[in-house]
Amino acid sequence: MSSHRQAAVRRLAAPDITARKGQTPVVCLTAYTAPMAEILDEHCDLLLVGDSVGMVVHGLPNTVGVTLEMMILHGQAVMRGSTRAMVVVDMPFGSYEGSAEVAYENAARLMKETGAQAVKVEAGETIVQNIEYLVKRGIPVMGHVGLRPQAVLVDGGFKAKGKGADERQKILQEARATAEAGVFAIVVEGVAEGLAREITEAVAVPTIGIGASAGCDGQILVTDDMLGLFDWTPKFVRRYADLRGEITGAIARYADDVRARRFPGPAEIYFAKAG
Ligand code: KIV
Repeated sequence: MSSHRQAAVRRLAAPDITARKGQTPVVCLTAYTAPMAEILDEHCDLLLVGDSVGMVVHGLPNTVGVTLEMMILHGQAVMRGSTRAMVVVDMPFGSYEGSAEVAYENAARLMKETGAQAVKVEAGETIVQNIEYLVKRGIPVMGHVGLRPQAVLVDGGFKAKGKGADERQKILQEARATAEAGVFAIVVEGVAEGLAREITEAVAVPTIGIGASAGCDGQILVTDDMLGLFDWTPKFVRRYADLRGEITGAIARYADDVRARRFPGPAEIYFAKAG
């Protein structure tokens, strides 16, 4: 990209997303690679380099095994592939919970080495002070309440949250505290519509729902889920394509062509004579 073009492009930044509270819904998707980021960039306001990359790309059973190095590599790829959307990188499990200083060191490394505009953390009660510490030192932070995938081992699975009144109150309180700590937006995952609307009304920053109804200020999905790359998708995902079917068909046709020596053909080899 020329320096002229670079100067003409301004990426959306944290204040742009915050300003969308109560306006047109914020469109977000996950991205882990440069080519996918390139496709999503013109359609999305925000690309999340989610730690779901551990499960979606690396075949891990959950996000607990994701490392800072993995997030940096994928963050760099997504930044290379996009020019317009805000890019947010997930802080992986174990990189921000221990102390505010450790959180800062790791968040600063993620920001410097990827060039992303913000980090995201899963916001339990104990994390709120670390969020405040980061924001006060110049790191835009996105929160994440409700179903917190990094807590899968404590929760015993990926389970929707907020069935009982006590848990609903706790999540609402976490969302309030997260907003007060200075986040620019909050992901709300796996809660019923009523709670999603309550949270959205209670906080001054946009809520970005995933499995949390249209009562949020924006929506996010795991891109590979909505493109139908897996044979199973959660209830809250709408499949906009059947890429698994498309890919399976294409690979089967390729395999048949190779075995029958139909590929490569005359037009697919070097120095073939025309006609
Ligand atoms: O890691 C991720 O992809 C996420 C989204 C599901 C919000 O946190």
